[in-house]
Amino acid sequence: MTPYVANPVYLNGEFLPLDAARVSPLDRGFVYGDGVYEVIPVYSRKAFRIDEHLNRLQHTLDGIQLANPLAVDAWKTVVLQLIAAAPWEDQSIYLQVTRGADNKRDHAFPPASVPPTTFAFASPLVTPSAELRATGVSAISVPDQRWMHCDLKVISLLPNVLARQAAVAQGCAEAILIRDGWMKEGAASNIFIVKHGVLLAPPKTQFMLPGITYDVILELAKAHGQRLEVREIAEAELRSADEVWMTSSTKEILAITTLDGAPVGDGKPGPLGQRMWQWYQDFKNTIMRQG
Ligand code: PDD
Repeated sequence: MTPYVANPVYLNGEFLPLDAARVSPLDRGFVYGDGVYEVIPVYSRKAFRIDEHLNRLQHTLDGIQLANPLAVDAWKTVVLQLIAAAPWEDQSIYLQVTRGADNKRDHAFPPASVPPTTFAFASPLVTPSAELRATGVSAISVPDQRWMHCDLKVISLLPNVLARQAAVAQGCAEAILIRDGWMKEGAASNIFIVKHGVLLAPPKTQFMLPGITYDVILELAKAHGQRLEVREIAEAELRSADEVWMTSSTKEILAITTLDGAPVGDGKPGPLGQRMWQWYQDFKNTIMRQG
């Protein structure tokens, strides 16, 4: 079986086998979920939109008042080394920074002398298969029970975990989060809808993670003259959409064809989603797989 995590992993300045990587049980990531993360897709051993991912990492670190342990160039060196050491052409790079391990448990920040814990590893990037793309996936809707800073990519993901598990328990791939009657995003994806040929995307607010894939989709829509509206999407609009898609660095663009047991549109992946997937592949292939 293909291992999920490549060796070596990166931990606090060292590259070492996963089995040899150790963190304290008092690490605040473990005790409080006090940390941040990023997931960067890699195509043909090139990291996709790495500057944007590292910018978002900085935004999240600023949002939780944690100093970035590495400069941008140092992060890029770590990522390059992980990519080079991993056996796969297409990968997903996971980065995580926590507020480190003090010698006691105290909610308030530890003294400045406590170093952060910095961890990163490469996995194979497994995008949805052609079969899955041909059928699309099922989703459920759930109330959004997260906090007020969903724009931060923090490791405290319990509401997302419970929402995704509720979906999986019902044989579905994703849970769509509804807050006060508005559709925000998925448990681990952004959500777009299509109605009467118009692509609708919720705006970037504190209640949605600003997806890197989301940005690429907006750029591609504009470049191809696709009609686009960035505005809040009511739950009722989600339910009467012609198409619903989930998007993320690992899923790319995947049609949701059943929502809460009811078909989305005609229950098959729609034409705009298929076109957007192709635009995404063309863009990726032009940028990433040549030269
Ligand atoms: N999740 N919204 C949420 C809540 C997410 O967790 C993600 C990604 C996205 C999409 O962001 P991007 O396009 O930058 O991947 C939106 C990653 C893949 C994860 O948690 O594994």
